Amino acid sequence: MSDRLATTIGGMRLRNPVICASGEPVMTEAGIRAALRAGAAGVIAKSVNERPEAAAQLDRADYVELDAAGVPAAHGVSLFNRSGLAQRDASEWFAAIAAIDQEAALDGQFVAASIVLAGADGAVVLAAMARRVGLRVFELNVGAPHASEATPGAITQETDPARLTELVALVRAATDGMQLWVKLTGLASNLPALAAAAQQGGADAVCMMGRFMAMVPDLETFAPVLGTSAAYGGGWALPIVCRFLALSRRVVGEGFPLLGTNGVRSGGDVARMALAGASATELCSVVMHEGFGGLTRVIAELDALLVARRVRFAELVGRAADALGGYGEQAETPGRWRDFVPPETIA
Ligand SMILES: Cc1cc2nc3c(=O)[nH]c(=O)nc-3n(C[C@H](O)[C@H](O)[C@H](O)COP(=O)(O)O)c2cc1C
Repeated sequence: MSDRLATTIGGMRLRNPVICASGEPVMTEAGIRAALRAGAAGVIAKSVNERPEAAAQLDRADYVELDAAGVPAAHGVSLFNRSGLAQRDASEWFAAIAAIDQEAALDGQFVAASIVLAGADGAVVLAAMARRVGLRVFELNVGAPHASEATPGAITQETDPARLTELVALVRAATDGMQLWVKLTGLASNLPALAAAAQQGGADAVCMMGRFMAMVPDLETFAPVLGTSAAYGGGWALPIVCRFLALSRRVVGEGFPLLGTNGVRSGGDVARMALAGASATELCSVVMHEGFGGLTRVIAELDALLVARRVRFAELVGRAADALGGYGEQAETPGRWRDFVPPETIA
């Protein structure tokens, strides 16, 4: 199985393209170890930052699953939640995950530090801290969806390419010798420019895209579900992410690794992200919905798909992206619209 699923990100070999994304399931050492045991290539540990307000926000977090119609349900297909950051002291948290990372390295796996951006100075301090304790991968999330709802300054969403290049260059200088991955927001439309900006700043890879913000009116209570706007993700998000992956690949070039997150629920979804240009994927909701076994399931499904298609994972990366045409290049099909309207329209 190993060679078929293998992939590389910025010179780092991964045993498969399924990474357990940053989130509550990996906010403890036990959770991180469970994700590794489930077979994930690696784990992005739950994020921290330098602002106590961002960690305090965790005490007001709430979560609900929604069904396909967007209605709260026991076993829904979408996750709607507000969240906060880990409440562990950053230096103690990074030391704890570095110890697990060292063990994980023996099995060809990794544990990454992650921060959600508040300010550049804090990001540099935290990056240097991650390097000091010997972590190998640092993920800088510059687009957490909760920025607009959090205490001002506690979570910052960076959508300006010039400022992003500057920020990434500063963090790059503090993470010499480490893998630096930059995670972009889902709330901007200039993802290709932001990916290029992160690349220019010295990132080894870019992960896209964060979840969306939504407000869900409840037909029983007539009030907003959870009482606030909150982050919203589901399998329905995957095609939107795929388009941004494909468009970004054109700008950063096929040699620059992209990671896909937001909407992967199956092995087929990992393959679709790869076809759009992702060399690996980051999954969180699957674990929230069904436990760490969800990662094992996704990896097995991907392997079965690769066997059935007689292809290695690495051979999928970018295939659909590179075949993506423009409207003007398509063959003309006059009157095609008639097949998609009620008969009365053309009577
Ligand atoms: C409850 C929850 C908490 C999350 N916390 C973080 C976080 O602290 N840092 C981060 O970079 N992403 C965080 N995320 C985003 C996930 O890492 C992931 O990118 C996102 O959920 C999309 O992937 P999915 O569709 O597999 O859930 C969180 C997501 C959820 C659902």
